[in-house]
Amino acid sequence: MEQNQDKLKEIISHSKEYGFIFPSSDIYDGLAATYDYGQLGSELKNNIKQYWWKAMTQMHQNIVGIDASIFMHPKTWKASGHVDAFNDPLIDNKDSKKRYRADVLIEEYIEKINKKIIKEITKAKKRFGETFDEEQFRKTNPNVLRNASKIESIEKSMKEALNANDLKGLRQLIVDLEIACPLSGSREWTEVRQFNLMFATEIGSVAGESSKIYLRPETAQGIFVNFLNVQKSGRMKIPFGIAQIGKAFRNEIIARQFIFRMREFEQMEMQFFVLPGEEMKWYDYWKSMREKWHKNLGLGDTMYRFHDHIKMAHYANAACDIEFDFPMGFKELEGIHSRTDFDLKQHEEHSGKKLAYFDPELNKSYVPYVIETSIGLDRMFLAVLSASFKHEILDDQSKRVVLRIPPALAPIKAAILPLVKKDGLPEIADEIANQLKFEYNLQIDLKDSIGKRYRRQDAIGTPICITVDHDTKNDQSVTIRYRDTMKQERIQISELPNILEGHLGWKTLLSNLTE
Ligand code: GAP
Repeated sequence: MEQNQDKLKEIISHSKEYGFIFPSSDIYDGLAATYDYGQLGSELKNNIKQYWWKAMTQMHQNIVGIDASIFMHPKTWKASGHVDAFNDPLIDNKDSKKRYRADVLIEEYIEKINKKIIKEITKAKKRFGETFDEEQFRKTNPNVLRNASKIESIEKSMKEALNANDLKGLRQLIVDLEIACPLSGSREWTEVRQFNLMFATEIGSVAGESSKIYLRPETAQGIFVNFLNVQKSGRMKIPFGIAQIGKAFRNEIIARQFIFRMREFEQMEMQFFVLPGEEMKWYDYWKSMREKWHKNLGLGDTMYRFHDHIKMAHYANAACDIEFDFPMGFKELEGIHSRTDFDLKQHEEHSGKKLAYFDPELNKSYVPYVIETSIGLDRMFLAVLSASFKHEILDDQSKRVVLRIPPALAPIKAAILPLVKKDGLPEIADEIANQLKFEYNLQIDLKDSIGKRYRRQDAIGTPICITVDHDTKNDQSVTIRYRDTMKQERIQISELPNILEGHLGWKTLLSNLTE
């Protein structure tokens, strides 16, 4: 655990040193839980956006993208349920004065029990080797069974308390489980209270209830209110989807763990409109599509797991998270929700406008059901960065820090390195850059020895280095060096476009999604 906290600290300082992420308003000592993406960070972020946007829209004939405004009519949030129900149950520790989400305290307690199960399994795996049958072990080992049943019973009590909005019951569970404040170790807790997460502000110059407006807490509602606009103007037929990337704002009480939980963040959301009754088929379909999208990046299949929601959001009839193994442990990266017709029906009621779809094949009108996929862009950024960040000891015992960022997402795709700053080599580097710059973000690096330049490019995750030397002038050949294998090969300059496309082009990455 301590080691993992250290890893997060290292990532934070690496991010600042190389221009990925800076604390916001740094010269004023920063603003809690707000960050700015630097010159490399914004490139990586844009590439993650593109990977998502292309996979959703370009790769699906029946999904289109929009870009709705952050401010929306205040009735939107009454209709969506956010005014009344977008709350966190909060509890304060009387000694440390620290505030926590009551459900998160209980979930962290559950995770501790889960870790005991995993420890037991790992021990048994070592003992039994090849012949170990995990499923059988989970079914029969008394310690595992006892802990699994403990988890089941806590989850059941928490679910009941959350669903019934039973705040006293939630507090009692914390007391009964003897959960202590992680900071002070004290078990002196206040009552649990509900706290609305939306930021409100005034629109125009006259203050008052009528001018109160919210910063959107999710991008999804911009899609719902445009459902018929898009369907009619785009002549879309159900099933179809609308995708969007944009900022969302939540007054998180406990905003921490770097860019994992912020008050201003970006979401990539897609609402898929389906025939009522077919929602579970599409829910399963999107679960598997999203899993494929993640695993296709090659960060490691064991880095992901599904977690079914204990408490459904107020709009959902089925929901799960894709969790990622962050330096702080497995945490939510993406949500997949079956939202029924809740949102469209609510907007019909509050706006007085019909939001039904006429199905020409069935010759009838209905309000479609919705499957939503919703991923935090900043969390995805942290997932990519933390899984890519490696300390390596090389064959000659020297060390390197390398970001093994999936090549198509790397901020700089190739560095062009003239061996010396003279003899016409920088000019050849310029010529190569001028050929490739229309497709790829490149960096020409002239300073220091080649070895130092390789290390610098490794540290920012550049997948390919192209070295121009004196032979290049005679035979138009260059040396390319791959970040991950550190293998080098001599190739012709004319081969570069094909090599780059094959190694880090969008087609290479996206084509696996269609197989
Ligand atoms: N429209 C559904 C929705 O907003 P959510 O589970 O509340 O669902 C979706 O949020 C995703 O947005 C989360 O899985 C997470 O990746 C991201 N997210 C939510 N709150 C966040 C925060 N405070 N900071 C960064 N990302 C956040």
